[in-house]
Amino acid sequence: MTGVASRAVGTPLSRIEGREKVTGEARYAYEQPAEGVAYCAPVTATIAAGEIDAVDPARALALPGVLAVISHDNAPALGETADGELLLFQSDRVHYRGQIVAAVVAETLEAAREAAGCVRIDYAPREHDVSLRLGHPRFYTPEKVNPSFPAVTEHGDAEAALARADVVVDATYATQPIHNNPMEPHASLAVWEGGDLLLHDSIQGAWGARRTLAEVFDIAPERVRVVAQHVGGGFGSKGTPRPQAVLAAIAAKVVERPVKVALTRQQLFAVTGYRTPTIQRVRLGAGRDGRLTAIAHEAYEQTSTVREFAEQTCTPTRMMYAAPDRLTRHELVALDVPTPSWMRAPGECPGMFALESAIDELAVACGLDPIELRIRNEPDVDPERGIPFSSRNLVACLREGAERFGWAGRDPSPGARADGRWLLGTGVAAATYPAYRAPSKATARFEPGGGYSVSIAATDIGTGARTVLTQIAADALGVDPEHVRVEIGDSDFGQAAVAGGSMGTASWGTAVVRACEALLEQGEGEVSVSTGDEIKAQSKRSRHAFGAQFAEVRVDADSGEVRVSRMLGVFAVGRVINPKTARSQFIGGMTQGISMALHEESVMDREFGDYLNRDLAQYHVPVCADIEDIEAAWIEEDDDELNPMGSKGIGEIGIVGSPAAVANAVFHATGRRVRELPIRLDRVLV
Ligand code: MOS
Repeated sequence: MTGVASRAVGTPLSRIEGREKVTGEARYAYEQPAEGVAYCAPVTATIAAGEIDAVDPARALALPGVLAVISHDNAPALGETADGELLLFQSDRVHYRGQIVAAVVAETLEAAREAAGCVRIDYAPREHDVSLRLGHPRFYTPEKVNPSFPAVTEHGDAEAALARADVVVDATYATQPIHNNPMEPHASLAVWEGGDLLLHDSIQGAWGARRTLAEVFDIAPERVRVVAQHVGGGFGSKGTPRPQAVLAAIAAKVVERPVKVALTRQQLFAVTGYRTPTIQRVRLGAGRDGRLTAIAHEAYEQTSTVREFAEQTCTPTRMMYAAPDRLTRHELVALDVPTPSWMRAPGECPGMFALESAIDELAVACGLDPIELRIRNEPDVDPERGIPFSSRNLVACLREGAERFGWAGRDPSPGARADGRWLLGTGVAAATYPAYRAPSKATARFEPGGGYSVSIAATDIGTGARTVLTQIAADALGVDPEHVRVEIGDSDFGQAAVAGGSMGTASWGTAVVRACEALLEQGEGEVSVSTGDEIKAQSKRSRHAFGAQFAEVRVDADSGEVRVSRMLGVFAVGRVINPKTARSQFIGGMTQGISMALHEESVMDREFGDYLNRDLAQYHVPVCADIEDIEAAWIEEDDDELNPMGSKGIGEIGIVGSPAAVANAVFHATGRRVRELPIRLDRVLV
């Protein structure tokens, strides 16, 4: 750590709450106790578009234990908030199949669920449109893409440069909708006390949720407290409050008792968000030496009629490779579908599948090794912003990875290697993810009995946040980790970054270090520090993590079955704070990348306007047998332009690059370029 002896940082400390978790003592939102609690079950729309004609609650109300049936007929009026998905029961409009249109509150979960099935709803359906397709007449260019990037960027004249390029790749890629499936389904417990709301929520950010809930219920933010002690995965789907949080709070208001809501796995598929499908055209122009002269990347994506969610698919293309003439563009169409939302490395992940596949195609077209091609196109500065990178060690990752993976001597010809009926191939792809920070507040104090405590509204969604913050605090205080107690997961601790955007540790860690430094200087009592000014004052640099994934696949020549025999990721992410939890993040991300490459696909039933596969029996996420040899490594990287720890976020970069590495390996094995994910048998065999 800058200026501080690093003792705990860099060690593989095991998760502090590990024992609590494996013994079942760790309480997740739904497991929090509440006196007199009632249970709420949603009723979801069975049409994809239209209006509710009538809600008949009579049969449900007649069942034993039922306390209330809530719908737009009788629900309390809500305030205003940007995410229309949260404004439950405010109109009779049905925007998508699976939307929450009513709910039952009852003495038990079983009674609530049974009664939910007995609420009769008559609809006036209208034609729905749930298909993302090129040429859709309602495509439009959004004003911004997430979180606030321009939708279109142009430098020079990409069209003209493409027209005169020696070598051109012009390819269209597609990705399907895919759904986050955290182990812990989204759940909430709401308690109203004299107009104040206490919400235990499975959420990635208690602080942000507090403000949103305050908007929804039109009360001052000080009257809302959000607690998220333990969260069983999120990957973005818990980045912002989801409808079940609002539902719990509405129901608790209606029955004047604490209320719990847990979504079923099936309900997750409609109301907690998913990765938008994309259709992406990438055009690369280059000289015969592989040096890029033009890059054009255009993405076509969907959103819903409830809310505009514009994924930033082309943003990595803006900073990856040098080329004088450049164009990126996003087009969006609002369909009668659930609203897409955050999913691990939104933008970077699907965008880099297309870009890194196209780069591989260019390497083939130029007869160059794909690593060499990437090295030839390394930019000196951020190509679009024209400012220096705080550090950029993509080349080092490629070289280190090539060495460890055994890339040297690779015969580039497709189908050159076989083992019986298995065709063997290897592929590589680059990865990147921004290194952000957001303002956070931490409080550090001397404990009366000796030692220290630190509190911050950070969230540990299974990543090890509690553990790494303890390591960071210990070093800042100059003590061993066992002398520091870190409390997190409570909006009462003040403003804090969301556990998302790979910015949690960098943001919270900065505040923790500053609070600990201030405490030592003060010498007694407690000190709170907020980091807004420090972050605002940082120098102008392009801050990104980089990495490279290498995949080896075997493809059954007869059936088209693809197995990933080996995957290696090498990352440049500043200082690694905890090698044990970091490795888990990296290989978890790469596992999700293999999964996106081969397995995950939410299949839309166009007739009904709903996803056909809505559980873990039909929506395939990888099991241990799907993941063979997988390893993560990192290079030494000193970057003092980041934060006091010198660290970059690591939550998302593992997935970026992995799907393209697999697809590029499949091409190498078979000669078949699969440009649409997932790489199904039929797409390999054609
Ligand atoms: Mo991540 S999609 O920023 O939680």
